[in-house]
Amino acid sequence: MFKKALAGIGAGALLFGLTACGGGGDDSGDGGGDGLVIGFAQVGAESAWRTANSASIQAAAEAAGHELKFVDAQQEQEKQIAAVRDFITQQVDAIVLAPVVETGWTDVLQEAADAEIPVILADRGVEAADEDLYVTRLGSDFAEEGRKAGAWAAETFADDADGTKILELQGTTGSAPANDRKSGFFEVLDAEGLNYEIVDSQSGNFTAEEGKAVMETFITTHGLDGIDLLYAHNDEMGLGAIQAIEEAGKVPGQDIQIIIVDGSKAGFQAGVDGKVNYIVECNPAFGDQLMDVVESVVNGDEVEKFTPVEEGVFDATQFEAELPNRQF
Ligand code: AHR
Repeated sequence: MFKKALAGIGAGALLFGLTACGGGGDDSGDGGGDGLVIGFAQVGAESAWRTANSASIQAAAEAAGHELKFVDAQQEQEKQIAAVRDFITQQVDAIVLAPVVETGWTDVLQEAADAEIPVILADRGVEAADEDLYVTRLGSDFAEEGRKAGAWAAETFADDADGTKILELQGTTGSAPANDRKSGFFEVLDAEGLNYEIVDSQSGNFTAEEGKAVMETFITTHGLDGIDLLYAHNDEMGLGAIQAIEEAGKVPGQDIQIIIVDGSKAGFQAGVDGKVNYIVECNPAFGDQLMDVVESVVNGDEVEKFTPVEEGVFDATQFEAELPNRQF
């Protein structure tokens, strides 16, 4: 059993030290051996990406000999906050949080800091005001993902003299990927001087069902004639939208070009089928890297405030060759 000490909280890299060394803690009393006890408040199971992310983290924790207390918060912040409070009560060695939205974390993060339990963000981030209350974040650079999508759109529609008409399916309202994928995308369109119009932009909550429903509303409200591009913040919403487009008698990928973010097998298959035109990868398989970060934090090593995971982009010339490589 080890007693943890909060060595300091600051704007940069933080140090969380152990007063004894030689392995992880077992403060909860229900673990054992040398492994750490890690509480993980996951967003939910809303997408293939999320399922793959959970599997990657669970497998990595097991391989590293740590006990992972896993909570699926079903996309509800209240459930994540309750999970974090439960982890604090259990005196876990570290808390991993994938915050469903960016705001509203100050109180519970302060409670974790007061209990001297380090919080590591996985995947999504929190608002800047709370940055001193967690140690580090490992995950995607969502703004960069948006910029990649924007760069392709700006190049593809550069000669569109009439102005490019865009529909946007945003992720969960208030989430880091929804906020940043949007800002990064339009930042590049503006920087490149693309003549464009956002015909409509609404949240599909990162699910296929809601993506389809929102696309049906778009079609009812605006029709599809003259719409050039659908920018879907993840695969599920894009795939749901494709169904709605086909049911409206249009050809996805031709009558309307489509960008999706994630790069699941289903997303790539849609690309091979000609229904998706560009894929920005979001990589969920960072479980091993996360365990390294958690161990470093618990050991009191200095860690970067943010570590991005590696991600690529794929156009129609690459879909077929890449499909067999997709892991989720
Ligand atoms: O936070 C990452 C995003 O969350 C993925 O793009 C999406 O599929 C998931 O729901």
